[in-house]
Amino acid sequence: MPLTKNLAAALLLAASLPAAAQSRQETLLISNWKFTKGDQPNGAKPEFNDAKWQTVRVPHDWAISGPFDGKNDQQVVKIEQNGEKEASLKSGRTGGLPFVGVGWYRRQLTVPALGKDGRAVLLFDGAMSNARVYINGKEVMFWPYGYNSFSVDITPHLSAKGPNTLAVRLENQPEASRWYPGAGLYRNVHLITTLGAHVPVWGTYLTTPEVSTSSAKVKLKTKVDAPAGAKGLKLQTELRDAKGTVVARATTDIVAGAETEQDFTVASPKLWSPETPTMYTAETKVLNGSAVQDTYKTPFGIRSFKFEKDKGFSLNGQPRKFKGVCNHHDLGPLGSAINTAALRHQLAILKDMGCDAIRTSHNMPAPELMQLCDEMGFMVMVESFDEWKSPKVKNGYSQYFDQWVEKDLTNMVHRDRNHPSAIMWSIGNEVPDQSSPNGPAIAKRLQDIVHREDPTRPVTMGMDRYDDDFKYGIAAVLDIPGFNYKPMRYADAITKLPQGFLLGSETASTVSSRGVYKFPAELAKDKQYPDNQSSSYDLEYCRWSQIPDIEFAAQDDLPYALGEFVWTGFDYLGEPTPYDEKWPSHSSYFGIIDLAGQPKDRYYLYRARWNPSQPTVHLLPHWTWPGREGQVTPVFCYTNGASAELFVNGKSQGRQTKAAAGATDPQTRYRLQWKNVVYQPGTIKVVAYDAQGKTIGTEEVRTAGAPHHIKLVTDHSKLAADGQDLAYITARVEDAQGNLCPDATHELRFAVSGAGSFRAIGNGDATNLEAFQQPQMHAFQGQLVAIVQAGDKAGAVKVKASAAGLKDGELQLTAGK
Ligand code: GAL
Repeated sequence: MPLTKNLAAALLLAASLPAAAQSRQETLLISNWKFTKGDQPNGAKPEFNDAKWQTVRVPHDWAISGPFDGKNDQQVVKIEQNGEKEASLKSGRTGGLPFVGVGWYRRQLTVPALGKDGRAVLLFDGAMSNARVYINGKEVMFWPYGYNSFSVDITPHLSAKGPNTLAVRLENQPEASRWYPGAGLYRNVHLITTLGAHVPVWGTYLTTPEVSTSSAKVKLKTKVDAPAGAKGLKLQTELRDAKGTVVARATTDIVAGAETEQDFTVASPKLWSPETPTMYTAETKVLNGSAVQDTYKTPFGIRSFKFEKDKGFSLNGQPRKFKGVCNHHDLGPLGSAINTAALRHQLAILKDMGCDAIRTSHNMPAPELMQLCDEMGFMVMVESFDEWKSPKVKNGYSQYFDQWVEKDLTNMVHRDRNHPSAIMWSIGNEVPDQSSPNGPAIAKRLQDIVHREDPTRPVTMGMDRYDDDFKYGIAAVLDIPGFNYKPMRYADAITKLPQGFLLGSETASTVSSRGVYKFPAELAKDKQYPDNQSSSYDLEYCRWSQIPDIEFAAQDDLPYALGEFVWTGFDYLGEPTPYDEKWPSHSSYFGIIDLAGQPKDRYYLYRARWNPSQPTVHLLPHWTWPGREGQVTPVFCYTNGASAELFVNGKSQGRQTKAAAGATDPQTRYRLQWKNVVYQPGTIKVVAYDAQGKTIGTEEVRTAGAPHHIKLVTDHSKLAADGQDLAYITARVEDAQGNLCPDATHELRFAVSGAGSFRAIGNGDATNLEAFQQPQMHAFQGQLVAIVQAGDKAGAVKVKASAAGLKDGELQLTAGK
């Protein structure tokens, strides 16, 4: 029954009486959404009947359930960045999934009583794309760029009587992206209500102007939105360490209409770094006398960094080079719908590899990624755009650039500038404007906007047009000149750069398919095979790219090189180079880790270099080659040892030692290679030694017999019973002795019972058209990954995998509170 006017007014009044401690309420709008695809002329109207629409939970990606189809994203295009001279028919460039078109979301909003001074704000972490937000039928916001966060104050549009209807219309244009963008409300939507004077969305800016191990200065600037005529408000802030102990506090009068500044000194601060990701929290209260009008938390870290001419980068006074990867935003089989457990899983794999930095190519990340990078210890290059004024794709960001670029950059900086993990901002990737005489002026304008909003961090971008970058001058404008795929030009660049350092903003783009090896094993550019796979000997690259070793050598030899961001950490949906024209390829081959989250061989090449604290001894290829008996089958070892000896069936193949700096062939510096090994079934074994000749580890690979059983291995077995946590379960087809059968393609069927459910599946094969959401899939090179989600209740989760002709694999997980 609708409330009477008087009763509603009384309730509103009640809520405005002396402020309760919990005046701020923040709710994630997760459930009770209705969704449909296709345009709905009356979809915004409150009286519209959406009963027939699908019920969904947000974050939601409307396209990830497919089906895959080459027609979903067919384009006749010339990819200029790839050096193509003529247009050709391409499918799968953006993942081959049905994300183009219009989608509508609707839900009722239950807004707490706001009183006379209350506000209600919706915060969208990202909405793909061209979001139009309606409250009770009225459009209250339009935000085109699907990767950015934006907020809207909906207070004036709410009906006191309720219920209130929220509707969101999204539209993805064709040819608007170079990769899979996802579709829909793929990030969280927050409803934030306050009852009086309050800190608005992203209303604090915290910096650490002076940092040493004995003491740190912390500066907090806070905006407060206060009702007209409010007087005598104070801001009380406590800085707390990770244990919750107050380490500094301040109480300050609020200056109406201006930011309130508070300064603190923290004695003996624990400094933030990738190795010691210590966090603090600033808890700010807006006080009216003793009444708390709002409480706002700003997590932060204490650290200092510098980029210095001829010295390079240092964090907390320690010189270091970025060991970074670029990642797109999709989560493989889960699509673009944000999932914290999936992100944590990705970061844990990268951490083990020794990676310490992420580039959020080529757009603003999910806020959850920034929080995890703070907590787990990754430095982030927060990137904004893949296009400025001049387009790469027909309907890309260039259409919005003039009107939106300042708003987009401002939101990006305001949202993420308190994160210790955020180390630099990137204003663009390979924008064609590099070749325009206006390019440097645009770059300067964007860099100035970023500096205005955050003077504490440098600005970079990924440049790929080397000659034009100097001819027109963009390279000299940037705080940090970032070059994509130019290690052979670094020595020349440094003579022309006023900055005195440069960054490998995007490197390598080596291509490989997990577990696939091609013969002969040789360096090859743009190599294609009839099976649409690339070789895992890590020797294949593109017209514009290289094998990893070339960048390694440049980084090791050139003190002014700041480090690298490898393209890419994880495979992603779309951009299936070198098979851009060869459907059914529809996901990338660039990843160090495949689309399902399984490391490829290259993982160990980077781990050997980036993770000195763990021994790495990795052998490739597999050793099951029926029909190759007597043929040359090279064996490589990726190790942080200095040398190693290889044995085939117990017979030594000699000891290989890594070449010293200066060696003409960089591979010899970073890989141990036995190029003339002749295949015979049995065992290959390597023993690796450090520079002093001490054994650091051994690795053995055996020829597999007939497929016999399925082995299930989980990344962790104790899940949080929060309805969100995920276990990544690798299924291996093994012979009776437990050796991986590297050619097995069995269809594995999963059954999950108890306190969890099947969520998704992937095998890392870029040509695979099986749906990610069905509980069965064919193994690729003997393996695949099933993702199991915890329920809300504690208990055992049973996972079973079966396949014709194989003994079942079984595993038990526990979900706990
Ligand atoms: C770069 C580009 C990336 C990706 C990569 C593939 O030029 O910045 O987005 O396309 O090439 O190698």
